Amino acid sequence: MTITTESAAESAAAAAGLTSAAVVATTPEATGPYELERDIESPNRNLSPITSALDAKGRLQVGGCDLADLAQRYGTPLYVLDEATLRATCRAYRQALEAHYPGPSLAIYASKANSSLAISALVASEGLGLDAVSSGELLTALEGGMPAERIVLHGNNKSREELTLAIGAGVTVVLDNWHDLELLAELAPAAPVSLMLRLTPGIECHTHEYIQTGHLDSKFGFDPDQLEAVLRELTRHPWAQLTGLHAHIGSQIFELQPHRDLAGVLADALALARSLGHPVRDLNVGGGLGIRYVTSDDPPSIQEWVRGVAEAVHQACQQRGLELPRLLCEPGRSLVASAGLTLYRIGSRKEVPGIRTYLSVDGGMSDNPRPITYQSQYTAVLVERPRAAASERVTLAGKHCESGDILLKDLALPPAQSGDVLAVFATGAYNASMASNYNRIPKPAAVLVHEGAADLVQRREQPEDLLRYDLLPERLRKLWATSSQGGHQALICL
Ligand code: LLP
Repeated sequence: MTITTESAAESAAAAAGLTSAAVVATTPEATGPYELERDIESPNRNLSPITSALDAKGRLQVGGCDLADLAQRYGTPLYVLDEATLRATCRAYRQALEAHYPGPSLAIYASKANSSLAISALVASEGLGLDAVSSGELLTALEGGMPAERIVLHGNNKSREELTLAIGAGVTVVLDNWHDLELLAELAPAAPVSLMLRLTPGIECHTHEYIQTGHLDSKFGFDPDQLEAVLRELTRHPWAQLTGLHAHIGSQIFELQPHRDLAGVLADALALARSLGHPVRDLNVGGGLGIRYVTSDDPPSIQEWVRGVAEAVHQACQQRGLELPRLLCEPGRSLVASAGLTLYRIGSRKEVPGIRTYLSVDGGMSDNPRPITYQSQYTAVLVERPRAAASERVTLAGKHCESGDILLKDLALPPAQSGDVLAVFATGAYNASMASNYNRIPKPAAVLVHEGAADLVQRREQPEDLLRYDLLPERLRKLWATSSQGGHQALICL
């Protein structure tokens, strides 16, 4: 692991295209979850982006931008994404694959983690590919400049329209089930379609049950019992070009062994596919590497993970006498989570004597549904005094009408008051992409920070935007009457 010191931080920053002015070393007497050291080679091992630094007044900066200023300028809640961290992570995957796998390789970004034009463009510029699971993600990738030949389309229930779009664009389609094959055959493609076959590997791992996908009772992929039948069926379709095999075992995984075991399962499938005449080139081991959400989390580094996977695939292929395939992996969370944070402004305070103190912020489960969905834990600091000594434990509540809308429990904070801005760390994955409009709350804006500049990459939704797709049928419109209250119209019962 490489620790950030002043000079190391500067060289890392330079490698990621940052000026050294953007980097201020952290000193050892910090309190709370503000990190004293960061692993700049494997950003998934940090709570905060690798460019996090304190200015002369002790205020938190990321990407050379003052977070309090960003909150002031763009409003809150605000998703902030650090370009240097995202680029460093892309490079970590690429370089580790090159270092540890003797054959060709490609890291594919699982864009369900956070899909936007800006992220697609950044990831494409780092030479990675992209995994999309819907027309929306696919269009975002293509419009963001991701070359079609580096895109794969996943999904356990793809529509005709999604398949038509994918075939037309020339992206690889992941064959997840028989229905996919039937739809594709109906579309009778004139040109060959590159297919990747997804199988359920039957591997269990320790993660939240909702995000395990590899065990046999899963809605994703072909059951191993069906593998030979589908491989034989594919030989009957001249348009079907089976170029790859895929499996994904789950997400936020800290163990390496399940991924090593997966290599054997995939190599067996590769041997079978090739023996039936399919010139399979790619072996895709999915994503799943975990990240650090709270101080006690200790995930493997990207280098350790890639090395474990690469060695296992290499070995499994050698044992079976197989020509080495191109090795693909599909990181989502570990690629983008630690590059992101969310800024909130504190509003109301409620003290329940002897029980707890609630501090409510201006967002919550609509911009980060992970705590209420998976009981996920996060850490946060006050951006203007991230290292001040904590004086109380608070519960950070969202603003939605739901008692479970709690972002963080038992957060140690220095004296905080209404108006203070908080940064919740590691929200770059599965936050914006899972956001909703519950309570008709508009989705936050997102900014990309780099070398002291901030670019708006997602506009803040406005309440009026939420009415754009509502229609009021004529017969209900007739119920409208003008009321005199404040010059507004009110719906009244006639
Ligand atoms: N490939 C496939 C086929 C996947 O289904 C996934 C994630 C990935 C790659 C990326 O996995 P990652 O590297 O991000 O672990 N919403 C949940 C996570 C769901 C993951 C779904 N599939 C959460 O917020 O924890």
